[in-house]
Amino acid sequence: MKILITGASRGIGESLAKYYKHQGFEVYGIARDEEKLKKICDEYFVCDLSNLDEVSELSKKLSDIKFDLIILNAGISTPHSSDFPPLSAFKKVIDVNLLSIHALLEHINFKDSKLVFISSLASLFGAPTSLAYSASKRALNSYAESLYFAGIDVVLIMPGFIKTDMTKNHKFYMPFLMDLDDATLRIAKIIKKGKFFNPFPLKFYYLIKLCTLMPDNLKRKILKKYAKSDIVE
Ligand SMILES: NC(=O)c1ccc[n+]([C@@H]2O[C@H](COP(=O)([O-])OP(=O)(O)OC[C@H]3O[C@@H](n4cnc5c(N)ncnc54)[C@H](OP(=O)(O)O)[C@@H]3O)[C@@H](O)[C@H]2O)c1
Repeated sequence: MKILITGASRGIGESLAKYYKHQGFEVYGIARDEEKLKKICDEYFVCDLSNLDEVSELSKKLSDIKFDLIILNAGISTPHSSDFPPLSAFKKVIDVNLLSIHALLEHINFKDSKLVFISSLASLFGAPTSLAYSASKRALNSYAESLYFAGIDVVLIMPGFIKTDMTKNHKFYMPFLMDLDDATLRIAKIIKKGKFFNPFPLKFYYLIKLCTLMPDNLKRKILKKYAKSDIVE
C-alpha cells in the first residue's frame, strides 16, 4: 500500500508518516526539509508548496505512481493578529493551503485513491485574527466537497488545536488543546472509517456551532474580546 503525505517533515504530517510506516505502508513524503524527510519516509520529494511551478513539475513526476492514500496535510498560517495582512502573506497562505493542492493533484491519477484533506475548525467561522487562514481552509472545505460529490473517495478532517510548531507560539488560551499522539490516532481512525465530514474534538465543534446560532451583535462582541487577547506580542 502506497501513501503520499504532504508536510511529512514535522507536526501532524510527520506523526502520520511514522504511524503509517509502522502499519506497513510505503510512505512518500513532501516538504522542504530534506534531512527530516530522509529520516521519516521511504521516498521523499523536496518541494516548496508555495512555488506552484515547482509543484506542477512534481505532480508530473508522480503521475505514474498509484497511491492508495493521499493525505493533503501541509499548511501554514500567519501569526494571529487582527491586523489586515499584507497581500504577500495572504497569497502565500492561499498558495500553500489551497492552490498547491490542485497543482499537486493535477497530473496524479487519484480516481481510485482515498483523498484526505486536513482542514481546521477555524474554517467554520471567519476568525478575526486569522483572516487568511480561515479563508483558505473554508475554500479547502468547498474544494474537498466538490470532489466528494464528483464521486471521489474524500475524507475531510477539521481538527481543533493540536500541539505542534503551528500552535507553539500562540499566546492565547486554546480550548481542548490536544497532544499530537492522541490527535494522530484520532485522524488515523477517521481515515479508516472513511466518512466525509469529520470535525473534532466534537465538544469544540458543537461550541462553535452554538456560537454560529447567536445573534450577530452578540457574536461580534465575543469575537472582539477574543481578537484583543489574541495578538502575538
Ligand atoms: N496544529 C494545529 O492546531 C492544527 C489545527 C487544525 C488544523 N491544522 C492543520 O494541520 C496541518 C498540519 O499542521 P501542523 O500543525 O502539523 O503544522 P507544522 O507543525 O507547522 O507542520 C507543517 C508541515 O507543512 C510543511 N510545509 C509548510 N510550508 C511548506 C511549504 N511552503 N512547502 C512544503 N511544505 C511546507 C512543513 O514542512 P517544511 O517546513 O519542511 O517544508 C511541515 O511538514 C495544516 O494544514 C494545518 O493547517 C493544524
